[in-house]
Amino acid sequence: MKITVLNGSPKGNLSVTDRHVQFFKLAFPDHEIESIPIAKDFKKFETDDGFRGEVLGKIKESDMVLFAWPVYYMTVPAQYMRFFELLRELSIEHTFAGKPAALFSTSIHYFDHTAHDYMRAQVDELRMKFCGSLSAHMNDMTKEDGRKTLKMFMVKSINNCVEKLFPHRQFQEFPANKFIYKPTPENRQKEVNLKVLIVTDHSENTNLSAMVSSAAAVFNPPAQVVHLSSLKMVSGCIGCLKCAGDLICRFNDKDGHRNFIENEMKQVDAIIFAADLKTGYFSSTWQTFITRMFYNGHMPVLNGKCHAFLLSGALGHRAYIRELLEGMMLHTESTMAGVVTDEEANSAAIDQSIEWLSHEISYRVKENYKPFNTFPAVSGHKIFRDELYGAMGIVFSHDYDFYKRNGLFDFPTGRIGFNIVKSVGRTALKFPPLRRRFYNKEMMTGMLRPYEKVISKMKK
Ligand SMILES: Cc1cc2nc3c(=O)[nH]c(=O)nc-3n(C[C@H](O)[C@H](O)[C@H](O)COP(=O)(O)O)c2cc1C
Repeated sequence: MKITVLNGSPKGNLSVTDRHVQFFKLAFPDHEIESIPIAKDFKKFETDDGFRGEVLGKIKESDMVLFAWPVYYMTVPAQYMRFFELLRELSIEHTFAGKPAALFSTSIHYFDHTAHDYMRAQVDELRMKFCGSLSAHMNDMTKEDGRKTLKMFMVKSINNCVEKLFPHRQFQEFPANKFIYKPTPENRQKEVNLKVLIVTDHSENTNLSAMVSSAAAVFNPPAQVVHLSSLKMVSGCIGCLKCAGDLICRFNDKDGHRNFIENEMKQVDAIIFAADLKTGYFSSTWQTFITRMFYNGHMPVLNGKCHAFLLSGALGHRAYIRELLEGMMLHTESTMAGVVTDEEANSAAIDQSIEWLSHEISYRVKENYKPFNTFPAVSGHKIFRDELYGAMGIVFSHDYDFYKRNGLFDFPTGRIGFNIVKSVGRTALKFPPLRRRFYNKEMMTGMLRPYEKVISKMKK
């Protein structure tokens, strides 16, 4: 079988993803596996007709396409995202239609499921036939069990191609936005004395540009609007990890990315991120901006801010976006005021939602209100915490120190008093009479005891 691998790591052959592809090649010598470092060569793919023709020729001849990528910021590297945009912009998606596609990622399992959803949506939109997926922890290949699973993934994916066993698509076509938002200028009550920044990558005369103007105007003074094009970003993160040593990105002096974050974003009370979801997620320009925030490693760059989103497009068709935004924004001391979209196709409703958003922002900033986190942020924190406490804390020593300094290594272990109570309790419950009494009589009331204490104090 002829398998073409589209390697999504910007590091190309010098990547963890590539080593997994080499593993597949050696483990399956009867199949012809060829890897193209498409994320590294995405500019060549855009500008060099010969190279593009070569790549598309290989896809045409393939019996299966393996999309292999590292998870970057809960989806894929900006360069890989650009590749998928180019397929649409150059109208060459049809080359992929009907081909079996397998998905393989390496990561530390932090929002790898949303990355797989993003990629599955690409596969579905390209009208490919999904034949398997595997999300490997970047250490799995070094373990015997891991290698076994890697091989089984490949065996199963190949068999599915041979037997023509393909499931139906997971994501429906992303609907084109036909509705035109027309803001109604009226004398709305403005939120005052807040420093709000709107960061956007809108095109002119789009719903997003109108939503940005409306949102800027509900504040007094109006929110400052910065278009990502003004930063003249030269590259997304290339995963070189140079920054892990000194917290300085290799592109630091080459564009306005860091200066903007440090001197503008960090100085405001609230940040509204405005994005067009044309391709089922933020654009590759946004992903360029987001991935470059890795100069600060796993330490939150925009800690303690109030965040909000203006999104144009059918967010409801891509539920993973909302989930990953919550994870991205909330594992820190930040708060997320809300999301406004144009999905309802009703200008007055959008106006009202923008007004609602401004109130949410104002309340959170002025009252310092941070609601409790839900699963995406709670679980995300635990993954970073555990990984940094382990081997990752060696390479990312600044991050390790930050976690230590800020009490973020908050494992439920190491509390001596609690551990004694726990082992006494567990031993006591091994005795049947005590066990019976506890579960039949005392557990329900015991569980409520801490709350009763609070309530009786309040009554007094
Ligand atoms: C900029 C950047 C962002 C990352 N984001 C994530 C992430 O969101 N989730 C995750 O589990 N791992 C994340 N990682 C870790 C990589 O997915 C992991 O190290 C991967 O194996 C690297 O593969 P590569 O060498 O092929 O690029 C990130 C790494 C970098 C450099």
